[in-house]
Amino acid sequence: MKEIVVTGYRTTGKLHIGNLLGNILNMLDLQEKYKCFFFFANLHALTTDFKDTSEIMNNVKIQLAEFLALGINPDKSILYVQSDIPEIAELTLYFSMLTPISRMQRNPTYKEQLKELFNKDIKMMGFLGYPILMTSDILIVHADNVPVGEDQLPHIEITRELARRFNKLYGKYFKVPKALVTKAGRVPGIDGRKMSKSYGNAIYLSDEPDVIRNKVRMMITDPKRVYKTDKGHPDICDVFYLHKSFSKEEIGNIEKECKNALIGCTQCKENLAEKISNYLSDFREKRADFLNDTDYLKKVLEDGKNTVREITKETIKQVRHRMKLMSF
Ligand code: TRP
Ligand code: SF4
Repeated sequence: MKEIVVTGYRTTGKLHIGNLLGNILNMLDLQEKYKCFFFFANLHALTTDFKDTSEIMNNVKIQLAEFLALGINPDKSILYVQSDIPEIAELTLYFSMLTPISRMQRNPTYKEQLKELFNKDIKMMGFLGYPILMTSDILIVHADNVPVGEDQLPHIEITRELARRFNKLYGKYFKVPKALVTKAGRVPGIDGRKMSKSYGNAIYLSDEPDVIRNKVRMMITDPKRVYKTDKGHPDICDVFYLHKSFSKEEIGNIEKECKNALIGCTQCKENLAEKISNYLSDFREKRADFLNDTDYLKKVLEDGKNTVREITKETIKQVRHRMKLMSF
């Protein structure tokens, strides 16, 4: 039997190069080796965007089309929407009974986000309890492994604690899952900060070639290289960082040309923009086709829902039984 992997994707809309290099390439590998559950975490999106929910399902549609266009395969992986699985919400309620408020307040990602997202109403129960919802996502399908970025490790720790606490109180039932840390590192955006939708510095997978070119032109290169005749330091250049992913075959050459001042940054950026556009041209076509085929997208999610609910219904039955909530 294959080990089980589960990972959720917050539904914030179209994907960017940081998502691709940081997570999705890894998911493509995982789906060959594991039994994978990939879901659209639209309830997690609600924790910060509960006031205007109008885009949430459209974001699911876009993300699904983009996942499929990148090669996430519904015959191999199970794709579903979090809010289609009511058992997740029920399990979240049970786990919230076992969670001290102070444990949530101590969560480092919570403390950080309180500072960062000061312009949103996030002093809310749902947001505080974000890791409990995540715990339920993971434990409800009995995951062995959870691929996440470094920033999510505190949540996996909470998940492990809650699994153990449940097992101790009501009898051993849940697996204690492990984090699979994705090691892609920090993908730089066009302003040098980490690429992120909220920073407005992202190159989107759906960007047209001229948009990509303009964005790449803005990227930060080796700051010490003022003139074309100055020798460059590719190791501190964001353009080079992306070349490593998109120009794998020529990477040795690019490095040499940069270090010996044989190529200017303008040309180097043009080359990168072209590589990214070529890489994504097939994707853009497939994405458009999937977006036009709403019936197919619905079917993928319907199938995913049915497959997952067979598991989650059984999990909830077992949980209720262990918590002695079955009728007398
Ligand atoms: N919290 C994750 C993030 O912000 C998304 C997520 C929700 C998730 N539920 C999950 C990831 C379960 C892994 C497993 O990226
Ligand atoms: Fe960066 Fe390319 Fe300029 Fe070298 S030549 S500093 S790799 S943009």
